[in-house]
Amino acid sequence: MKFFIDTADLAQIKEANDLGILDGVTTNPSLMAKVGIKGEEAVTNHYKTIAELVDGDVSAEVVSTEFSAIVEEGKKLHAIHPNIVVKVPMIKDGIKALKWFSDNGIKTNCTLVFSAGQAILAAKAGANYVSPFIGRIDDASWDGVELIAQIANIYAIQGWETEILAASIRSSLHIVKCAEAGADVITSPLEPILGLLKHPLTDIGLAKFLSDAKTFK
Ligand code: E4P
Repeated sequence: MKFFIDTADLAQIKEANDLGILDGVTTNPSLMAKVGIKGEEAVTNHYKTIAELVDGDVSAEVVSTEFSAIVEEGKKLHAIHPNIVVKVPMIKDGIKALKWFSDNGIKTNCTLVFSAGQAILAAKAGANYVSPFIGRIDDASWDGVELIAQIANIYAIQGWETEILAASIRSSLHIVKCAEAGADVITSPLEPILGLLKHPLTDIGLAKFLSDAKTFK
């Protein structure tokens, strides 16, 4: 399972990248706004900086909703850096655009996916990644991880190669459960990734080893 970080914050991207386990980055318009990126040039430069920082796919989301505008915006995003993956919303014109990008060799991530039916359409359209938003599903009192397992089962039966990118991760447990459910990728904020490190018995055990080590040094 690949690890992507879900942020546009360069310090957090660097911290995750320094761990040596980072495979890519996802962003969305809300995450870009959160770090204060404003204007087309600043957006382009920010994506370029991220793509040069991390050796892996970087999802950059279109904000157009009509087929030809999505294609034009996606082509511009793709031109920023070869690792840019065009993130396209799960809407009718988005499906048409995913097929166009697929036919023209541009990698895509189909975002805002909340059902197996939507994941089927994304795969049929040739999306490279499909992003089910598991945290937002949980927030609505449905089971996000269950959706990951259902999509993984469908894709395995059908032999579809679209990678399941579990998004909207809220906790370290989500990451563990997504690995069990068959996600190909998780994209997570930094904290849940760092949370995987934590266990009180590790801290207690290390303290004891270090204090015992003093007796024979
Ligand atoms: C990433 O691709 C998604 O846009 C993101 O994970 C959504 O997360 P949120 O539900 O925490 O906003």
